[in-house]
Amino acid sequence: MPCFDSVYTKEYAQQLDAVDPLARFRNEFYIDEDSIYLDGNSLGLLSTRAEQSLLDVLDSWKQYGIDGWTKGKHPWFYLSESLGEKMASLVGAKGEEVIVTGSTTTNLHQLVSSFFRPEGKKTKILADELNFPSDIYALKSQLHLQGFDPEEHLIQVKSDNGHLLNEEDIIAEMKEDIALIVLPSVLYRSGQILDMERLTSAAHQRNILIGFDLCHSIGAIPHQLRKWDVDFAFWCTYKHVNGGPGSVAALFVNEKHFGRRPGLAGWFSSNKQKQFDMEHTLTPAEHAGAFQIGTPHIFSIAPLIGSLAIFAEAGIEQIRKKSLKLTDYMMTLIEHELSDYQFTIQNPRDERRGAHLYIEHDEAARICKALKEENVIPDFRSPKGIRLAPVALYNTFEEVWNTIQVLKFIMKEERYKKFKNERDVVA
Ligand SMILES: Cc1ncc(COP(=O)(O)O)c(C=O)c1O
Repeated sequence: MPCFDSVYTKEYAQQLDAVDPLARFRNEFYIDEDSIYLDGNSLGLLSTRAEQSLLDVLDSWKQYGIDGWTKGKHPWFYLSESLGEKMASLVGAKGEEVIVTGSTTTNLHQLVSSFFRPEGKKTKILADELNFPSDIYALKSQLHLQGFDPEEHLIQVKSDNGHLLNEEDIIAEMKEDIALIVLPSVLYRSGQILDMERLTSAAHQRNILIGFDLCHSIGAIPHQLRKWDVDFAFWCTYKHVNGGPGSVAALFVNEKHFGRRPGLAGWFSSNKQKQFDMEHTLTPAEHAGAFQIGTPHIFSIAPLIGSLAIFAEAGIEQIRKKSLKLTDYMMTLIEHELSDYQFTIQNPRDERRGAHLYIEHDEAARICKALKEENVIPDFRSPKGIRLAPVALYNTFEEVWNTIQVLKFIMKEERYKKFKNERDVVA
């Protein structure tokens, strides 16, 4: 049994790093050692493997021109499918239930246009009032397209405190007139994980289809979409999956829905053997590939080849284990070191928390600016939220310790006061 120093010392953090089974992966990322990056929940960092796979794909363009679609190390024509298979283990799905395609928002449009089939009394969509705005805009526009007034047909479950949702409240809203439910797996602010298994089972008992936005859980938390019997899901790959800015997103469609016609079809919805027959009658792929639309953005997919190889080696269970330790450690330090400075931890303290912490302070906007000046990169959410995401693959316990020391220094010396307490254009 190693002898550990007091939990509040830097030595303790260093001891945790010394026994961290994932520590070696940090060397694979481009890390500015003069700064502490805690924004992997918005944009993950570049790894050398992701860089190499992007270069490989560029090279195949150089070498093969049009033939790069079927030749080279990573033939482009099959990348969406082959990477979907690789990502399936992150969501607990069969390979053919996942496809790498589109963006989070376009995938939501695709899935709602495929799964929202209002019939009789069932004409409403259920969501929540804390969801990311893009999802709500998409749901409202889909209702508009079908001739429904979103004011009446989009039901948004209320939160008691503006941070968390109660599963009971969501289930209470699963009424007879609900046709479809779309919820986040992890709330983008408070980081609360919703009980997807329970919600799915409750929805199905009431004959309602249900899908989840996994943007804040993918690559950070294990999922069992098949076991839970979720109907569909969608997620981005630029946060915890480290695919780069605007990297191509992904979606899951439960095998039991294979054969359902895509609401938004295009020639990449085709069965691949038929695609180049150029017929005007679509023969959709027999799997999740049917929910693609047009030509994939190959250079925005390519980094995922390298990045997903890292996940396959590190293992999502190990990632979750370390992530919980990092955030637990950070909360312990916040409570001990910052008790004089009116911070409130708003994420769930228990294991219903995702991979980031959400703390609030009235001066949050300018505290974030002061942190950046000290080379600590947080993420501000208006009006008074600070998200801190120590990422299991590349952050260390020592960085967590240093971050809290910097925060304490900023508060003690009132360094934040020289900034305006308002957000920048991109927060
Ligand atoms: C939870 C959630 N949903 C949807 C989106 C929108 O994603 P995109 O802009 O890639 O469509 C985001 C973006 O950060 C998000 O965090």
